[in-house]
Amino acid sequence: MKILEINYINFRNLSDRNIKFSPKINLFLGKNGQGKTSIIEAVYFGATGKSFRTSKNADLIKHGKTKTGCFMEYEDRISDKNISVKIDSSKKEYRLNKKRIPYDEYYGKVNVVSFIPEDIELIVGSPSVRRRFFDSEIAQSSQEYFQNLKQYTKLLKIRNKYLKNREHKDPMFSIYEDEFVKYGARVIKKRLEYVKNISIILNLNYRKLFDSKKELSLVYSSEMGDIKKYSLKELEEKLKENIEKEFSKELKYGYSMVGPQKDDFLFLLDGREAKSFSSQGEKKSIIFSLKLSEIDMVLKEKRENPIFLIDDVSSYFDSIRKENIINYLNKREIQVIITSTDLLNIESKNFLVEKGEVYERDN
Ligand SMILES: Nc1ncnc2c1ncn2[C@@H]1O[C@H](COP(=O)(O)OP(=O)(O)OP(=O)(O)O)[C@@H](O)[C@H]1O
Ligand SMILES: [Mg+2]
Repeated sequence: MKILEINYINFRNLSDRNIKFSPKINLFLGKNGQGKTSIIEAVYFGATGKSFRTSKNADLIKHGKTKTGCFMEYEDRISDKNISVKIDSSKKEYRLNKKRIPYDEYYGKVNVVSFIPEDIELIVGSPSVRRRFFDSEIAQSSQEYFQNLKQYTKLLKIRNKYLKNREHKDPMFSIYEDEFVKYGARVIKKRLEYVKNISIILNLNYRKLFDSKKELSLVYSSEMGDIKKYSLKELEEKLKENIEKEFSKELKYGYSMVGPQKDDFLFLLDGREAKSFSSQGEKKSIIFSLKLSEIDMVLKEKRENPIFLIDDVSSYFDSIRKENIINYLNKREIQVIITSTDLLNIESKNFLVEKGEVYERDN
């Protein structure tokens, strides 16, 4: 999959323009504070309808304006298409080939994998950071997961409201609870499958690029114990059983204490949790390996490479490693969009970013 061009209007500090991308490596050079991350963010916004920096729509709109939008031409295995997202005040609008579509259909049309300095939070941050990340990763290539998760989130809210108001004797409560268990089990089942598959690739990537002597794994961690071999049916039963066990506590605190909203994803390096034991450098390498593995997962599910976005590449790796990594991406014919403060010794289409303006460079 390749993005052919982007048009953005009133996006962050960027001056409106159209950028045509190379199908290979695109490098955006610029000093601090010029708008490099904003470029990557605009592409990510166009592709996913979201930002990786903020959940507030208004942050994306240029100061002093009331709307913003990104329009992208892209090609996938089948044909060329265009996709666009607009924010007007707080309303969002999504289009595919100029026709309005709901967000459910928009998400996952253009697949991107992003690597930004803040991604280190995936290791050091709270479980909710990891849940949010893996949920959107799985959803980007599985519409079924997207729908199951959406349904589960809705049911969780309803169930919590009943618990908070102590309305558990209402006949509707048990009907909702059956649904809650059904969708909860589906969400967990898919997460377990994803973790199993990506963990193998993750270890291979880590050993190949960073440290052949260590073993990296990703494990799914749940209050429900060792559930990795459970069938869907068994997961439903286990969920029910645990809800029964915790029910008096749930009533006391007024919210659901069992289910996928409580689970976590742990990175283990040589069997020890990376969060507590790995060095800064190892953490960066783990995250980078994770992002490469995501590329493989998208390729597996969608039979197409996603677009790889790397923000501030110089802050991660020394120059030799940086070039190795980029050459590796080049060989795999993955479209890459990178920002950097310094020129890199690679073959790329280069742009200069200065005070929100983007200029094409010859060298
Ligand atoms: N909504 C907005 N409207 C106008 N300007 C904004 C908006 N949001 C952020 N900015 C400004 O845009 C500028 C560029 O930010 P950006 O993060 O893209 O820079 P950068 O080139 O990535 O810098 P660095 O190298 O330090 O990461 C900053 O000065 C920031 O304050
Ligand atoms: Mg930046």
